[in-house]
Amino acid sequence: MALSRLRSIALASLVFAALLMAALFITVEAAPPNQSADEGATLFKEKCVGCHTIGSGKLVGPDLKGVTQRQEKAWLLSWIQAPDKMLAAGDPIATQLLKEYNNLPMPNLGLNETQVASLVAYLEGIDAGTIAAPVLPTAAAVPEGNSVIGKELFTGVNRFQNGGPPCMGCHSVGGLGALGGGALGPDLTTAFDKYGGAAGLVGFLNAPPTATMNAVWSRQPLTADEQANLMAFLQSATATERPVEALVPLTVLAIVGALILIVVAQLYWRKRLVSVRRAMVTRSRIS
Ligand code: HEC
Ligand code: HEC
Repeated sequence: MALSRLRSIALASLVFAALLMAALFITVEAAPPNQSADEGATLFKEKCVGCHTIGSGKLVGPDLKGVTQRQEKAWLLSWIQAPDKMLAAGDPIATQLLKEYNNLPMPNLGLNETQVASLVAYLEGIDAGTIAAPVLPTAAAVPEGNSVIGKELFTGVNRFQNGGPPCMGCHSVGGLGALGGGALGPDLTTAFDKYGGAAGLVGFLNAPPTATMNAVWSRQPLTADEQANLMAFLQSATATERPVEALVPLTVLAIVGALILIVVAQLYWRKRLVSVRRAMVTRSRIS
């Protein structure tokens, strides 16, 4: 009697345990491991705000408000995971977007699958109205700067308040390249246009998504004034000092200089020849 009751209790708990495990297994299968909209929000602030707003307009890339409604979920997941591969494969949506955004490709940010799923969950939450959109800088937030001060900061004549290295240590820009700007980073002559103006560029500098820039500026951030002055300088560099045009007067000067040298040399040698001849003539007269 007691034995059979024990047996049925054991059986019941076994069945219960099996059911529990099955239920656990199903939930694990259904949702990617550990995805969370909270993690998505944190990642978005770290990796994406340099180029995207959600509801505050275009920056370097499109405003992501409503993106989970205008794109398929599978497309979003693959795009955020590896935009470089999608572009290389000639994906039609990606190709069209690239053209609309000044041919500036979104970089591969090296995210894992869980992080990508969390970002999409976060974007979905915002579009569904269950999560508040982040407050991000807009174009109006960048004040008018002084391009002369900006140039001094860029070249290192003036130091950055938080101790960052001068931009020219790694970058050339406009005509300044000829004077020995660094070559570690790309030439910045067209950066202002490429990033869609001051707001886009400041967004990039505030949270650089690329390795070297991030390593340098996340520890020694630029102040708002410094950014504004640098923007004014980079804008003037884009507008006036294209590197090729800056080289033309240099070449002309070099040619003119060479011509003057030739003329002077000829005059000099002719005079010397004349005096040598004169000396020879006098000498022959004496002898
Ligand atoms: C360096 C700038 C940059 C960074 C950083 C960046 N993006 Fe982008 N993103 C772009 C650009 C530019 C486009 C437009 C397509 C193109 O030109 O490659 C784009 C397009 C997109 C699109 C498609 C938008 C649409 O309208 O269909 C999504 C979604 C997206 N990015 C999400 C993200 C997320 C999420 C992050 C952060 C993990 C991120 N991006 C980081 C520049 C960036
Ligand atoms: C220690 C070297 C270094 C310094 C200093 C530096 N940069 Fe950079 N920068 C780079 C490198 C390298 C890249 C290429 C992307 C990367 O690896 O971060 C880059 C990329 C950039 C880009 C993106 C260019 C493009 O064509 O997409 C901009 C804009 C930029 N830097 C602006 C600046 C400004 C403004 C300063 C000064 C406040 C500065 N950088 C100082 C190394 C540097």
